[in-house]
Amino acid sequence: MNPNERFPISLGEAIFTLRAIRRFKNEPIDNEIIKDILLSATQAPSGGNSQPWHFLVIKDKKQKQEFAELYHQAWWAKRADQGIYKPEDIAENNKTTLSAMKLSDEIATAPAIILVCATAQGSGHMGSVIPAVQNLLLTARSLGIGGTITTLHPSVEGQVKSMFNMPENVQIVYCVPIGYPKGNFGPVQRKPLAEVTSLGVWGEPL
Ligand SMILES: Cc1cc2nc3c(=O)[nH]c(=O)nc-3n(C[C@H](O)[C@H](O)[C@H](O)COP(=O)(O)O)c2cc1C
Repeated sequence: MNPNERFPISLGEAIFTLRAIRRFKNEPIDNEIIKDILLSATQAPSGGNSQPWHFLVIKDKKQKQEFAELYHQAWWAKRADQGIYKPEDIAENNKTTLSAMKLSDEIATAPAIILVCATAQGSGHMGSVIPAVQNLLLTARSLGIGGTITTLHPSVEGQVKSMFNMPENVQIVYCVPIGYPKGNFGPVQRKPLAEVTSLGVWGEPL
């Protein structure tokens, strides 16, 4: 079937319910579905249509477990950069960080982890990959699959690259675990539109 006929919910519903999903059912994702998701990612725009993306999909249990150790290290290295060294340093009401911490313990439970890479170094290439990731997440959402954008940390990048035999010049832009959600999709909490928009002159209401 043509992939553009396969997405069962409206774009609006996908956009307005696309919250970060970090807990996954123990249910595999078919490779054909992953291909549809990534096909949609590759329809995104990029600078000069350079399409400098590459998606490395990790599904094998042993590979996921090995990667998960580095992901855990990376997550805590990012926290250490912010002066956070242990779970007790995270405020109880900081639900997002606590949930991200849990993901750093459990990322191997995601049925698939997608390393979104740029095929060359530099912020231009990185920027050209980012729109593809939103396509990826929206298409996954429309197929009932959730995930979240995450980043690694320079301290583990070399090890991750050699683990997956990545060429030297590749940069890992995001790590996106995906799976059928344990929780629900749902509305997101965002700043009011008026706070983040202007008409003509900065600060004039739209
Ligand atoms: C650039 C970027 C980096 C992010 N890094 C992480 C991360 O390392 N770990 C994580 O669990 N979530 C990460 N997130 C997900 C955000 O925490 C999430 O999108 C945000 O809190 C909004 O959540 P919501 O969509 O559920 O409202 C990242 C998102 C973006 C866009």
